Amino acid sequence: MNITNTPEWQALLDHKDRLEHVHLRDLFAADEERFANFSFELDDLLVDYSKQRIDAATLSSLIELARTTDVAGWRDRMFAGEKINVSEERSVLHTALRHLEFTPFPNAEQDVMPQVRAVRKQMRDIVERVRSGLWRGFKGDAIQNIVNIGIGGSDLGPKLATRALSALQHPGLTFYYVSNLDSAHLAPLLEQLDPRTTLFIVASKTFTTQETSINAQTARNWLLAAAMEEWAVGKHFIAVTSSPAKAHEFGIPDSNILEIWDWVGGRYSLWSAVGLSVALAIGMNGFERMLKGAETMDHHFQQMPLEKNLPVLLALISIWNTNFLGAETTAILPYNESIRHLPAFLQQLEMESNGKTVSRDGEPLTCRANPIVWGEIGVNGQHAFFQLLHQGGWLIPCDFVVAASSDYPLPGHQAPLLANCLAQSSALAFGKTEAQAREELSAAGLSDAHIAKLLPHKVFAGNQPSTTILMPSLDPFQLGMLLALYEHKVFVQGVIWGINSFDQWGVELGKQLANRLLPSITGGQADDASLDASTNGLIAYFRRHGHV
Ligand code: F6P
Repeated sequence: MNITNTPEWQALLDHKDRLEHVHLRDLFAADEERFANFSFELDDLLVDYSKQRIDAATLSSLIELARTTDVAGWRDRMFAGEKINVSEERSVLHTALRHLEFTPFPNAEQDVMPQVRAVRKQMRDIVERVRSGLWRGFKGDAIQNIVNIGIGGSDLGPKLATRALSALQHPGLTFYYVSNLDSAHLAPLLEQLDPRTTLFIVASKTFTTQETSINAQTARNWLLAAAMEEWAVGKHFIAVTSSPAKAHEFGIPDSNILEIWDWVGGRYSLWSAVGLSVALAIGMNGFERMLKGAETMDHHFQQMPLEKNLPVLLALISIWNTNFLGAETTAILPYNESIRHLPAFLQQLEMESNGKTVSRDGEPLTCRANPIVWGEIGVNGQHAFFQLLHQGGWLIPCDFVVAASSDYPLPGHQAPLLANCLAQSSALAFGKTEAQAREELSAAGLSDAHIAKLLPHKVFAGNQPSTTILMPSLDPFQLGMLLALYEHKVFVQGVIWGINSFDQWGVELGKQLANRLLPSITGGQADDASLDASTNGLIAYFRRHGHV
């Protein structure tokens, strides 16, 4: 289906002509109930999209677009376990991982819950033994340090959640995440750790990812240099993978291998045993609260009509901004320090899922799909790139995300933090007119000549759209809802663009080339005639300067 030819798309182009030059100031002035009309609260998670450049008519046309692209049908197909990941012929069932009821899922014929529950039980057992000190290292010591070795979805989700919930963390355990191949990531960490009290989790769905394999092998060598006995691997390594045989070959005993399945995409795997480090940090009950939050969002997504369905609304607004208002990027601006990894997590979720130009049927898309996602802690951004958001002339929709209460309260911090967050979204939306700027300058006693000189610099165009997501506090339930909200938003966007959001063929070429270049870097003495001149020139530099 070519969505850009549909009457719904055409209707939205008309709305664009109508709304393109309408300012958020006017939209707010025209509707006193705008906040009530364009915000939604679900179990205390408040999503305010009133500062988006939409009105009721745009929203209904966007909903029509969702209907015409059969969002509800694709959603139901995903939840029913159909193989909607067509290029890999896989079901997409990460929602089974947070299905907490004692009923089959997705249905009695294809029920995956017995395996899911068995791994949850295995997780609980490990979590309880480590947290209570019953799990002992090769010299009989309790575990104090947990190192998750993984990359992409096997790193970003657990790292985000562990940090987000660190206020609830077991006081006797410290958590580290190693992803980079650069030994500067692992080496300083190993220097400070004691092999007797360190537990490594090798999280890798495939167990073949180069970065993870090399880091895991180095960690294993480091352990064995101290323990001198192969059996020690079983006391200090756990694997989370869909290739148990490969983990077994690595020397990890079956009891320490937690399985995931091909129907869990890497970037959707936080809810599986890939989240083991999170469960070790906050306990299995806490982890299940996070699953409960995600399950609550799943039910909302499945049951609510499109016009009251949060993931659908957020997806449609993002499509409006990208395909009609012309935004090329979008900024994620968390204000709580503990969710500092949210932008990186969402970069993978959004851009690995929908960073595509080909439809699920292999046809070229007729419109641009996912915008570039970037972001940073909001207050830090205020003193760095916000200048461009305010006066740079680019349309950059922003997501402000903040918890009302601090997870590490200190007197005098939280109110200014919240004030800054709200002030920024307000300044971006409403800006400052020339008249307002002139009045301010003149009230400050500036001469007319001085005012004329400064005035162009003091005007803020505003009309920069944003969504604000508020949570009461950073607790596992709210975090689960928040992340599942974004997951489903990405899915809905993919459906509307006609994309398969669950494959990632675009990451393969670089991996293949890296393997091909390796021999030239480590051993080659002369240029490889099959390579381009630039790559050969750069390799020659490595030969001169690198110690590989
Ligand atoms: O290369 C991309 C990717 O496959 C991601 O999709 C995935 O999250 C990451 O690599 C890690 O993969 P694995 O868990 O198999 O090591």
